[in-house]
Amino acid sequence: MTTPGAGEGREKLLVNLTPELRRDLRIRAAEHGLNMQDAATAALAHWYSSTGTVDVDTKGAKSWGVFLPAGGPQRFTQECEERRMTKVQGMAQAITLWLQAHPSPSERLVNQPVKRILVGNQKGGVGKTFVASGLAQAMAEMGLRVLLVDYDPQAHLTSRMQIPGLPDGSDSLLKHMLGEGEKHLARSLVALPQERFGGRLHVLPASKDAFLMDAKLALLQVGRDTCLARALAPLEDSYDVIILDGPPNLGLAIDLAINYVQRRPGELIDHSGILIPVWSDRSSFDAYEMLNEQIGTHSRMTGAVVDQLGFVVNAYDSRKGIVTRSFYDGWNELTTPGVLATLKDSIEGREASDYQVPLLEHAPESDQANVMRALAKELAA
Ligand SMILES: Nc1ncnc2c1ncn2[C@@H]1O[C@H](COP(=O)(O)OP(=O)(O)O)[C@@H](O)[C@H]1O
Ligand SMILES: [Mg+2]
Repeated sequence: MTTPGAGEGREKLLVNLTPELRRDLRIRAAEHGLNMQDAATAALAHWYSSTGTVDVDTKGAKSWGVFLPAGGPQRFTQECEERRMTKVQGMAQAITLWLQAHPSPSERLVNQPVKRILVGNQKGGVGKTFVASGLAQAMAEMGLRVLLVDYDPQAHLTSRMQIPGLPDGSDSLLKHMLGEGEKHLARSLVALPQERFGGRLHVLPASKDAFLMDAKLALLQVGRDTCLARALAPLEDSYDVIILDGPPNLGLAIDLAINYVQRRPGELIDHSGILIPVWSDRSSFDAYEMLNEQIGTHSRMTGAVVDQLGFVVNAYDSRKGIVTRSFYDGWNELTTPGVLATLKDSIEGREASDYQVPLLEHAPESDQANVMRALAKELAA
């Protein structure tokens, strides 16, 4: 989702694509320092000039959209008609060719900064905490060192992990953001004890003073934009991934988190950014519009480049009818890559929250746990 806008003179092509090709294109484009639309444009140009292409398996292709230079969609349609093949097959061939011509330059992946993911949406109850926590668990399970930051003063994440909140007066994240920390912030972390996480999953618990964050930070005269980055900097070398569980509002705290996950010099596209849990309904679309606006304003005002990593459609049930299904398609088509994962509302998820046990520990073989693992794999790639 690195290319949210159509941009000047671009036209959107809608065509089905398999999740595998979609993911490979996104990752490979990022490895080559390209955005998706430029990679897709190059793929089509390559395909137009090639002959004797081989059929590609397109089973499981899902709705996908990409912006091409003006006239691009018509040219593609025409080319498919001339070659007497479906657009789905045409696009699959073009992307497959491009992937073959652009192997993974794995050496580019070393020396990347710590991966920073804000799980954000000001709408409450959409599953931010659920997704942040499940993703962090899955990433730790696959061997990554993960720091999960409870960045919501309501402390849902902290309590669902059965971790006590930080006692009053202790070294909280806010204290460090204000430059008032006394000890190293690592002293405030809690490691999850479950064996499957191998001691690699650490939580920075919420503290009550977080409710005062906006008010206190408003008084900070200097360096406010970067105070979250400064507070977390001493921890970064100890982790592969830092995940922030965002608060349910669009205040100052979320602005600082957006700032924190911006692309750093030399950092690959979509290495860090915002992951957005949504529901398949109208109010989620309205909420996203506001969030997108805030990200846009932040970028314009500060010059930050902020990658939107994609949506996680939560509590999805296709049996809820055509409106639900059409909103789902809407998330996929709104931007590229669109939906990274789809979660159903499940008993295991509810139980994990209510029993205060991490999902992957409570129901390791559940569909939800596997969706979290697939998401972790995609985001870690
Ligand atoms: N896919 C799901 N299946 C089951 N329970 C879920 C699912 N997603 C969220 N929940 C539960 O719904 C409630 C709200 O989700 P939560 O993650 O707290 O939302 P948010 O952080 O956006 O406010 C929580 O109790 C959470 O555990
Ligand atoms: Mg939450």
